[in-house]
Amino acid sequence: MNVKIIEIPKITEPRGNLSIIEKDIIPFEINRVYYLYDVPSGSERGGHSHKNLLEFLIALSGSFDVVLNDGKESKTITLNKPYEGLLINPGIWRELNNFSSGSVCLVIASEVYEEEDYIRDFEEFVNFSNCK
Ligand code: TYD
Repeated sequence: MNVKIIEIPKITEPRGNLSIIEKDIIPFEINRVYYLYDVPSGSERGGHSHKNLLEFLIALSGSFDVVLNDGKESKTITLNKPYEGLLINPGIWRELNNFSSGSVCLVIASEVYEEEDYIRDFEEFVNFSNCK
């Protein structure tokens, strides 16, 4: 599946840790950053795929599950480390669930927001991915 866990460099010190995302660890030009927070327990986010967009997800705080599907197989990745990010290439259906209390999901994206880039219907996604 066209996703990858990428380690984010960290500097650990007794007075606290610091992680750095410089452009060389992300394989796309950054055009947007957004974040999910105050997600109520039991809530689900995502539920779509993208035609062209690449995203890099990080659990800045707490944890959540990312359920991925490429039209053929499904897998779940738990993000729970602020020094680890998940690269999701285009053409992958993603659902985010199981958010822990106080969790924050940072998303770094390759493009500005464009609703036309979304596929929000799962059946349409499966048909779209099988046509490729
Ligand atoms: P949505 O894509 O449903 O969020 P998620 O996939 O995280 O569950 O987006 C929620 C709303 O926010 C929707 O009306 C679109 C809007 N939105 C923007 O205006 N800009 C953005 O960059 C994003 C990610 C969403």
